[in-house]
Amino acid sequence: MTELRMRVREIEQTVVEWRRYLHAHPELSFQEHQTAEFVAGTLRQFGIEVTRPTPTSVVGIVRGKQAGRVLALRADMDALPIHELNEFEFKSNNPGVMHACGHDGHTAILLGAARLLTGLTEHWRGEIRFIFQHGEELHPGGAGELVRAGVLNGVDLVLGNHLWAPLETGQIGLVYGPAMASPDCFTVQIQGRGGHAAAPHETVDAIQIGAGLVTALHQIVSRQVDPLVPAVISVCEFHAGSAHNIIADTARLVGTVRTFDKQLREEMPIKMEKIIQGICTGFGATYEFDYEYGYDPVVNNEEATRLMEEVVVEQLGAQAVNHMNPVMGGEDFSAYQAAVPGCFFFTGAGNSDKGAAYPHHHPRFTIDEDALADGMQLFTAAALKFLA
Ligand code: NI
Repeated sequence: MTELRMRVREIEQTVVEWRRYLHAHPELSFQEHQTAEFVAGTLRQFGIEVTRPTPTSVVGIVRGKQAGRVLALRADMDALPIHELNEFEFKSNNPGVMHACGHDGHTAILLGAARLLTGLTEHWRGEIRFIFQHGEELHPGGAGELVRAGVLNGVDLVLGNHLWAPLETGQIGLVYGPAMASPDCFTVQIQGRGGHAAAPHETVDAIQIGAGLVTALHQIVSRQVDPLVPAVISVCEFHAGSAHNIIADTARLVGTVRTFDKQLREEMPIKMEKIIQGICTGFGATYEFDYEYGYDPVVNNEEATRLMEEVVVEQLGAQAVNHMNPVMGGEDFSAYQAAVPGCFFFTGAGNSDKGAAYPHHHPRFTIDEDALADGMQLFTAAALKFLA
C-alpha cells in the first residue's frame, strides 16, 4: 500500500459521510445554495481560502510554499429532477430531487483531496484551485460561467472526474482525444389541420407526419453519416392527439443530437431541416424547427491524459487502466478545456453486489462508495506529480 493510500484510508470514512450528507440533501442545477454553503464551510475548516464566483459555486485556493504551476481540480455539485426510489438511510430528503449521477460523490472526493493536499504543502509547489461547480446538468451550464468569471486565469492544467457506474470499482476509464459528445437538442412543432377521424382526406394529420419524421430523422445517421464518424439522433418526446376519433391538429417532437465531429455537428440541423421540410410540405403541413447547440464535446489533451495514465498505474496498478470508448453523453467540462489543457477521467463505481448496478440518471442509481477513495487518491496523486 502506498503512503498516499494510507492517508486516503485515514479520511475515507469522513468522505463517505460527506457523500451521504450530500446525497440526502440534493439540490437542482443553479439552486445549490445549501450544498455550496456546506462545501465552503468544510473548506474553511481546513483553513482554505474560499471564493464564491457565482451564487452557488465555490472555489478553494491553496498555495504551496514555493511558486510554481497552477492546477485546477473540478467537481460538479448539482442533482437531478428525479424521485429517488432507493431505500437506504441517506436517501433524498428533497422530494423529486436526487443525486442520480454521482455528483454527491464528486463533491465529497474533491473535499477529501483538498484536505489531503492542504496537509501536504511540503510536497508540492505552486497553486491548486478546487473548483466546486454548479449547474452541470442544465444547459448553458455552470462551467462556462466560471470560466468567464476568471477561475481559470493563470491555470496550467485542469482535471475532472466522473464516477462511472458502467465500470467496476477499481477500473479507471481513460480516453485520449474526444471523450464525450456534444449534446445538442431540437424541437419540431408540426402544424397540420385537424378533423374527423372518419374523413382523413379532409385533414392534414400531424401524427402521421410526425411518425414519418421519427423514422426519417433516425435514418439520417444510417444513410447520410460516415459509419466511421459516431453520431446519434434520438427523438425522445412525441406529443399529439386528444381523442380516439379526432385527427390531431398539431404534434411536437423533441430530441437530441450527439456527435464529436465539428463539421458534422454544423451540418446536422441542415440535414434535419431538409427532411422535415420535405415531409411536412409534402403532406401539406407547416412546421417550426428549433435547434439548440449544447455543450461542446469533451476532448482530452494528450499530455494531460498521459499524466493521468501514469498516475493510475503508479497508484492503483496497470490493471486499473481501462482504455474505454468515448461516451455519447455530454459534459460542460468542455468549457474548461476550451480555455486550458485538461483531462476528464472516469472512476469506476459499479458493483452489482452492493446494488450499484443501475445506469446514471435512474431512480435507483447509486455508487459503490469504495470508489470515493480511488477518486480522492487519483486527484491527490495527480496534483503531487504535476506540482512536484
Ligand atoms: Ni454527471
